[in-house]
Amino acid sequence: MNDYFHYRQDQLFVENVALNDIAQRFGTPCYVYSRAALTDDYRQFAEAFKSREHLICYAAKANSNLAILNVFARLGAGFDIVSGGELQRVLAAGGAANKVVFSGVGKSEAEMRQALEAGILCFNVESAPELDRLNAVAGSVGKVAPISLRVNPDVDAKTHPYISTGLKQNKFGVAYTEALALYLKAAAMPHLRITGMDCHIGSQLTEVSPFIAAAEKILVLVDQLAAAGIALEHLDLGGGLGIRYDDETPPSIAEYAQALLGVLRGRTEKIIVEPGRVLVGNAGVLLTRIEYLKHGEEKNFAIVDAAMNDLMRPALYDAWHAILPLQKRDAAMAQYSVVGPICETGDFIGHAREMAVNQGDALAVMSAGAYGMSMSSNYNTRPRAAEVMVDGEQIHLIREREKVAQMYAAEKMIG
Ligand code: LLP
Repeated sequence: MNDYFHYRQDQLFVENVALNDIAQRFGTPCYVYSRAALTDDYRQFAEAFKSREHLICYAAKANSNLAILNVFARLGAGFDIVSGGELQRVLAAGGAANKVVFSGVGKSEAEMRQALEAGILCFNVESAPELDRLNAVAGSVGKVAPISLRVNPDVDAKTHPYISTGLKQNKFGVAYTEALALYLKAAAMPHLRITGMDCHIGSQLTEVSPFIAAAEKILVLVDQLAAAGIALEHLDLGGGLGIRYDDETPPSIAEYAQALLGVLRGRTEKIIVEPGRVLVGNAGVLLTRIEYLKHGEEKNFAIVDAAMNDLMRPALYDAWHAILPLQKRDAAMAQYSVVGPICETGDFIGHAREMAVNQGDALAVMSAGAYGMSMSSNYNTRPRAAEVMVDGEQIHLIREREKVAQMYAAEKMIG
């Protein structure tokens, strides 16, 4: 919990709105975000880096609802994208193309053309063949592509293996030992312009030391490049700062920034960062209602109306999210597995949770603002959840609950 999600007289509130009111008005499952929390998180970043030229590129994959992108665009954010679809969203939400960096190991020719036409700030190139392709595509449309190489610093981020990206064995970035040669190759390509270097070592990092180790290794390369006559305009240090879901103690945004700025002292390059989770994770919750309380021989189940298609993180990473009642009850606690209606044992939101609840009560799955809605699916032909943004007393529906007919509108029978 944080200042924006809090109990008032046993009712869970977001800002000045009771979450039960939202659950009743819009139904469940429903994602709810606090505009104040989003704004506060962004401002903490901007404040922490203000002593030097910087650009905060929100990683759109964490939550790409237009309203969320728009909140950040209005605050001056740039964006880190990984697909042509995300680029289109960012532009539709009022984001500036010249503040967009494009990451990802598999950029297609069409995506490259789209980003070149839009005039993005930088392509974060992740392999030698990607350099060749980008050079060719840029040449074919008469443009010069601004590039950085995503260098894999071979640093252990000490996070979940599925979201660790900076080790030699990961598919991301170019090998540290090959980076210099690739930069020299890129420098000779007519339709590329080298502007920066970048790295991203993983997500949900709860210590600063891997960030520091990666930055230090990157700077050695930056100096080697300078000696070879290639000066860089920016250094992109990626995203990855973790949040508190349970009892983690990640560094604060200010501590993280201070540590990085310490390593970068004396450097003049513009700093880019690509935070995703830390800007939105604790600014959002998923509301769900208990359909049934089922008392089994070995376990009690709270069967809720949200499932792994709505929030995939528990099933995929065994991730832990706090689950709180919207209305605190003065009743005996019991232990429940909170599970969804999907036909898979992996469909759970949380195990072994002590709760005092009745059938029909609504719950909030906390810290669900990042990688919740953006990873949702229609498995079991379940419409995707509604999304709501609260701004003080105001309640805005920012995405309608999907309708079943929308889900199969693009399908055709063959007769
Ligand atoms: N930049 C790049 C190149 C990335 O690949 C990512 C995340 C970010 C920035 C933002 O990282 P963040 O600040 O959010 O940690 N679905 C997983 C997380 C996957 C992260 C993928 N890359 C989860 O739910 O934990």
